[in-house]
Amino acid sequence: MLRWPLLLMMAVLLPMQPAALPDGPAYTQDGLLKYPSDYPEWVFLGTGIDMSYSSETAADHSMFNSVFVNPAAYKAFKTSGHWPDGTVMVLENRAATGASSINKRGKTESSELMGMEIHVKDSAHAKGDGWAFYGFEKPTDVKSNGRLIGRPASCYTCHEAHGAVDTTFTQFYPTAMGIAKAKGTLSAEYQKENAAALVK
Ligand code: HEC
Repeated sequence: MLRWPLLLMMAVLLPMQPAALPDGPAYTQDGLLKYPSDYPEWVFLGTGIDMSYSSETAADHSMFNSVFVNPAAYKAFKTSGHWPDGTVMVLENRAATGASSINKRGKTESSELMGMEIHVKDSAHAKGDGWAFYGFEKPTDVKSNGRLIGRPASCYTCHEAHGAVDTTFTQFYPTAMGIAKAKGTLSAEYQKENAAALVK
């Protein structure tokens, strides 16, 4: 008999829980972000090469940065055009190598991971808009966990001012950008900044 009120209570309470994604962020007991070791199986958003925020001369080494997102977040994004709670975006840096194997020209990604940063949306974990950045002291060590980059930090300032969708740089992720445009979810700041280009 007692079980029924309990089940009823659960049925009422469950929808109030934030929608946790099965492949969303996981943390250690001391609040570090667990390394999402299966991210190479996630949705590929895009790659930049030698991106720079200033027009000064480029660094002497060439680097690719590629971004991956957890599949459940991408699925929700396709429907709403917004990155949902539970989004985990991994940015990995790899050196660009020149001639190797049969390649004589152009550049390919090296197998050596040079760096990793992660952007997470988790309202239950981060105050404010729920977005937080994590950095890795040893990005090449798969067992290392991500440390929260606290505010204020330039990461938040630049992403909030220039990221096209929900403080992420969706404008550089071509397929996702098409979805955001169709759903009308580009940030007001981005639209103002790119008014001329968006008319096309
Ligand atoms: C001056 C602007 C600027 C600053 C400062 C900046 N970023 Fe970014 N960030 C970018 C751009 C541009 C991209 C898109 C990269 C691409 O297309 O490959 C990006 C992409 C990312 C992504 C991929 C997910 C997303 O949100 O689009 C992560 C993770 C990230 N940055 C982490 C950081 C961290 C951590 C810091 C601070 C230590 C930081 N960024 C500081 C401009 C910035």
